[in-house]
Order: sequence, then structure tokens, then C-alpha cells
Amino acid sequence: MGKVTVITSGKGGTGKSTVTAGLGAALVRRGNRVLVIDCDAGMRGIDLMLGVSGELVFDIADIVGGNCPPSSAIYPCKTVPELYILPAPQNVRDEVSPFVMKKLVRILQKYYDHVIIDCPAGIGSGFESAAIAADRAVVVVNAEPLSMRGCEKVRQKLRQLRIPEIRLLINRFNERKFRKLNAFSDLDSVIDKAGIRLIGVIPEDHTAAACAQRGQPVEGRMKAVYALERVAARLDGVDVPLEL
Ligand SMILES: Nc1ncnc2c1ncn2[C@@H]1O[C@H](COP(=O)(O)OP(=O)(O)OP(=O)(O)O)[C@@H](O)[C@H]1O
Ligand SMILES: [Mg+2]
Repeated sequence: MGKVTVITSGKGGTGKSTVTAGLGAALVRRGNRVLVIDCDAGMRGIDLMLGVSGELVFDIADIVGGNCPPSSAIYPCKTVPELYILPAPQNVRDEVSPFVMKKLVRILQKYYDHVIIDCPAGIGSGFESAAIAADRAVVVVNAEPLSMRGCEKVRQKLRQLRIPEIRLLINRFNERKFRKLNAFSDLDSVIDKAGIRLIGVIPEDHTAAACAQRGQPVEGRMKAVYALERVAARLDGVDVPLEL
């Protein structure tokens, strides 16, 4: 039974989809079979980031609507073997309800070691559908006050949904910009503000971000890849020390 992790944020644009794609690939490199589910109905992006957008026919809504079996809507990533993608519907009106989503994820998780769910921004119905079946949530923040406000809201919601484990991931971290912003004295104060246990810090890495945007695998000698690999190890239950 695969472990289900939802990647959330509250505020948009913190890097959820980039992190989802990167973590999916990093978990595969650790020997896992991984399913990435895009739950951002109307604004899907994981298909682009994992290089399968040209071949999509079916999506989650087609499985739920009985238009196709699950296997027809799950696409193998060409560049990363053992990484699979279930795309979100193209229209927000086809968003799947939390109740149905939970049932679907419970079935799919039997066939993978990890299921990673990319959540839409905000805490609306799409958020609940994405998070409802999760064994754990990773809240992706940027070390900025507005992002931390979103984090607070999402943390409350995740607790209401009784998600068993909630972890904080600081993404796009740039020491120089962080000092210049001068909103927090150090990363410890960001973690205190979040009130969530840290799982990792991903540095700002324009090379890795560009690879993801172009649908190329986020792998090789990049700062963000090194950090993502450490987060993937922790998601796999391996106790690697944090590097701040
Ligand atoms: N570690 C990083 N270093 C540099 N740029 C990054 C990093 N992570 C993400 N980005 C960039 O930040 C922008 C937002 O990323 P992304 O689309 O993954 O965020 P999101 O949280 O999924 O957004 P949305 O809420 O709209 O779904 C993109 O331009 C992406 O390339
Ligand atoms: Mg996204």
C-alpha cells in the first residue's frame, strides 16, 4: 500500500508543481514506483513538467465518469521509468469531489510505493479533494510573510481534515534575498511561524526550474536536485540530517 503525500501551499506560486515533479522523479531514483496525481483542475501543469502533455486523452474525470478504465488515464513518464502521471481535468467544472477522490486514491495507492498529489492553490473544494486521502501533507512555502500567512490557513485546514502528518518545505530559498527582505531573523523563525516540522529547504535554482518548465527531467548536478533527494529520502522514512 503506497503512502499518499499531498503537496499544498495556501498561497499560489510557491513551487508546489515543480516540487511535485522533482520529488516524484527523486523517489523513483530511490527505487520506488510512483504515481503523481494532478489535482489542479482547470490549471493542470504536471503533464507539461513531466513531458507527457502531447499525448493526453483521458484524465481523472474520465475515470470517475466511467469513460475509461484507470489504466487509460495514467500515463508513463517517458524520461523517468516507473513514474506515472494521472492528469487533472482541463475544466474546473469537472473537478472531482472529495468523497469520490478518496475512494479513487484508496484503490490506486495499492499499485504504487508512493502517490504524490499536486494540490491547487488556496483552500477551496479543490484543496479538499486533493488532501482528503493523504497520509501526510507537505506545505510548500517561500520564506516571505505572505507565503507564511497562506501556510497558517492551510495548516488549520489540514488539521481539520485530520491529516496524520504535516511537514514544512521551504522552497526557492535564496540567502541573499532572504537577508535583503529582512522579514525574519533566520530560518528558525520561519519554521516557528509555520508551526510545522521542517522536512527540507530547496534552494532557488533557475536551472532546475527551467528543466521542469521545459518538461525535461529534474536530475543531475543541480542544487535543487540534491535537496529534493534528501526530502525524498525522508519521505521514504530514512533519517537524513537536515541541512539549513
Ligand atoms: N526552487 C526553485 N527555484 C527557482 N524557481 C522555482 C523553484 N521552484 C519553483 N520555481 C518557479 O516558481 C514558479 C512557480 O512554480 P510552480 O508553478 O511549481 O508553483 P505552484 O505552487 O505549483 O503554482 P500554482 O499555485 O499556480 O499551482 C515557476 O516559475 C517555477 O519555475
Ligand atoms: Mg501548481
